[in-house]
Amino acid sequence: MKLILIFLFLFSHLYAQEECPQSKNIFKSKIHPRLVRSCSACHKADDFGPGHSQKNVDEAYRMAREFVRFPDYENSKMVKLVKDKHWLEYDDSERGMSEEEIKQLLKVWYEEGEKSCLKSKTTVVTYKDQSEYQSLKNLPLRGNKVEVKLMRFDVSHLLDSKAAVFVEVEAQVFTEKGENIPKSFRFLNPRILSDKDLYVEGLHFFTDSTKLDEISFAIEDRQIQGKSFDITKKVTSFPLLSFQTPILIERNKKIDKLAVSFDKIELKDYPECTDLNSIKNKLKPALVQMQCLNCHSQKSNLAYERMPLLTDKQICSEYEMRPKQSLDLFWDFVIQGKAGHTKLSFEKVKKLKEMLK
Ligand code: HEC
Ligand code: HEC
Repeated sequence: MKLILIFLFLFSHLYAQEECPQSKNIFKSKIHPRLVRSCSACHKADDFGPGHSQKNVDEAYRMAREFVRFPDYENSKMVKLVKDKHWLEYDDSERGMSEEEIKQLLKVWYEEGEKSCLKSKTTVVTYKDQSEYQSLKNLPLRGNKVEVKLMRFDVSHLLDSKAAVFVEVEAQVFTEKGENIPKSFRFLNPRILSDKDLYVEGLHFFTDSTKLDEISFAIEDRQIQGKSFDITKKVTSFPLLSFQTPILIERNKKIDKLAVSFDKIELKDYPECTDLNSIKNKLKPALVQMQCLNCHSQKSNLAYERMPLLTDKQICSEYEMRPKQSLDLFWDFVIQGKAGHTKLSFEKVKKLKEMLK
């Protein structure tokens, strides 16, 4: 798909992952053939879906790896999309793959390949690199209306600088003791407030001092634009870091506190636009044609706050700041209609593709 390819081109320099020859070998011999067999109907090069199952194995490897976060591969996008049988939305005669199959494949890819390289390239979060714990006692119970408590965690100390950074998440009791599921909590709308420009990956929750990653948000890697804020006031901050609403279940142990941390958090300037011309000549006309600017260039609109597209420069910066994962989120919005977003038909997407050729 051309639009995706343009975005990839713009960002590929930012997200080139470290080489891992062992991982690539396993991908070539054991993963790639299966992807080609089951997924290439829509995932060839320049196709409707991202080209993770194209013939060119180097490209396929690079793209497939974008959708798998090792070592937590079971919660990665690749598994989620297969579990959702998303292909049925486009072609109900497709069989795709089962959830067990994809998990098994990723397990092999991890155990026999990726694992050997992992140490050098993941940031391991330790207990001292997290926010302070906050109590989960006295949260409101899920009701007809969504009742939540806003929890706010100070994570400023995770950066060696004088930035003020807070993570916010809405929390509620989802089930009480005695219901079908034992007591559980639900978390919604994670977001971040920062007075300096930041880059973040992988938001994690910690529930006690011995267990890591009881739950995690599969956060979209994200460039955050710093804004000054007054922490004593109730502020609505953007962007959302994830649309997932994980549920934390009390099994044997009573859980009563929570802390947060990231795989990675670092100061990084919001990018200046570097390729204004191609944005102006290609992307903008397409966005106009698709009526995206109706909402996204209106200052009073929520759409503007989430993704301002008023000036050419804004359009350019918005796209250049979006890492690969956020661009997938982009497609979630316009193809899947995530969060109630205006949905484009398959035909319109086709047309968009034509326009961008
Ligand atoms: C009938 C067409 C079709 C088939 C077959 C198909 N997909 Fe997709 N897939 C799509 C389309 C279209 C998109 C992009 C829009 C979306 O996210 O739904 C997509 C997106 C994806 C994404 C990226 C999601 C994102 O957020 O960008 C992943 C991962 C994925 N597919 C995995 C698979 C795997 C694995 C298979 C094979 C088991 C498969 N798909 C088979 C149509 C298909
Ligand atoms: C009818 C108004 C409307 C139109 C038309 C519209 N959007 Fe949106 N868009 C919104 C609103 C409102 C939000 C914020 C949704 C939220 O936060 O729940 C949004 C959010 C988004 C986001 C998420 C931004 C983020 O936080 O990362 C993307 C991406 C997006 N729109 C892309 C598009 C594209 C591409 C088009 C054109 C195909 C488009 N939108 C057309 C109203 C619109």
